[in-house]
Amino acid sequence: MKINKVSKLNGTIVVPADKSITHRAIMLSALADGKSVINNYLKSDDCLMTLNAFKQMGVQIEQKGNSLIIEGAGINGLKNPVKEIYAGNSGTTTRLLSGVLAGQKFSSTISGDASLSKRPMKRVIEPLSLMGVDIVAKENNFLPMTITPGENLKAINYISPVASAQVKSCILFAGLYADGITTVAEPIKSRDHSERMFKTFGADITVNDLSVSVKKCDKLYSQEVTVPCDISSAAFFIVAGLIVPDTNIKILNVNINKTRDGILTVLKNMGANIVLDNVKDVSGEPVADIEITTSKLNSTSFGKETVPSLIDEIPIIVLAATQAEGKTVISGAKELKVKESNRIHAVASQLNKMGADIEETDDGFIVNGPTKLKGATVESFDDHRIAMMLSVAGLIAEGETEIVNSDCVKISFANFYEVLEKICK
Ligand code: S3P
Repeated sequence: MKINKVSKLNGTIVVPADKSITHRAIMLSALADGKSVINNYLKSDDCLMTLNAFKQMGVQIEQKGNSLIIEGAGINGLKNPVKEIYAGNSGTTTRLLSGVLAGQKFSSTISGDASLSKRPMKRVIEPLSLMGVDIVAKENNFLPMTITPGENLKAINYISPVASAQVKSCILFAGLYADGITTVAEPIKSRDHSERMFKTFGADITVNDLSVSVKKCDKLYSQEVTVPCDISSAAFFIVAGLIVPDTNIKILNVNINKTRDGILTVLKNMGANIVLDNVKDVSGEPVADIEITTSKLNSTSFGKETVPSLIDEIPIIVLAATQAEGKTVISGAKELKVKESNRIHAVASQLNKMGADIEETDDGFIVNGPTKLKGATVESFDDHRIAMMLSVAGLIAEGETEIVNSDCVKISFANFYEVLEKICK
């Protein structure tokens, strides 16, 4: 994809549905009794992996316009997938599904693409093993991973070393099948979509600060769920709106869940002019329209306490920091090294090629701003969020920016370039 500098952006846009919420809605609907409807689900490669996995296990799923109609198999109704389940690029599919598979009467194998096959699975293998599941994975940590449940799943009280919603959710899904009460505590609160949606589908789940408990469950109840738009996709347009001159854009119906809205707090601290309007509740999640106006930004610093609430937005926040006055220090973000790419290296190396002044640290970045960016040929590392961040950088860079392997945006945002074009006009 080739991007040229623009003089302004203008318009009202809708970004795709939330990826995390779509995965969970498909999974819980598949395990519920009766027919569920998921409106405004995310049609992206990652969510397709979750959808296909449940189809492979006998769940009937029909696509009708923007909705999915799922005929739930019931909590104990999944069928042996026979062949291995292919999770593509999707960490969320892999880690959440492994919790579901831990509760079945059959053994199953999950595989993935080259990037997913390099991502750590020990974080789910360890708690599931404690629950009595036998897991064989490459080097005890990587896909492909074969999950063989024991006779009865044991409830555990697990203290997770990482603040990861995927780990927490994996344990909660397995907990639906475990005798007794399963509890998982995390060091810092991660996104809580599972907790909210488990409750909606009728699971007995209790949240106590950083600790979440779920009881064994005989039955989940089908629901109609409307998925709000993804703040992680909106993030690229929020930052574009701030750093491109003469800009005013509005993004409709964006999820502003407190466990996900760190980007709004950090950007506002930097001086961003961001206004939320029309705040409402959609299927148990807070949603708002977000209006963004070009702003003069100042540097900021944040660390591990803030990171989980903006983990996927750090690449685009670093781009904002390259345009801010002063030194921005981001720490406590080591997890970025095990995302779809090593995002610390990907962000710093590619933005520096464009003229930014970014130092990679062991757990984050030091960014000196403001710097003038210039067009260059840059690499997405086949990581959707890196491709989108570099595209936004291209909007303010002198000359032309060419993004190699830009196609990967389809992992979460298939029409990213169309939406971008719409506000460039
Ligand atoms: C997700 C959790 C986060 C996030 C990912 C989606 C989820 O990962 O980066 O894009 O849906 O639970 P971690 O749990 O590894 O932090």
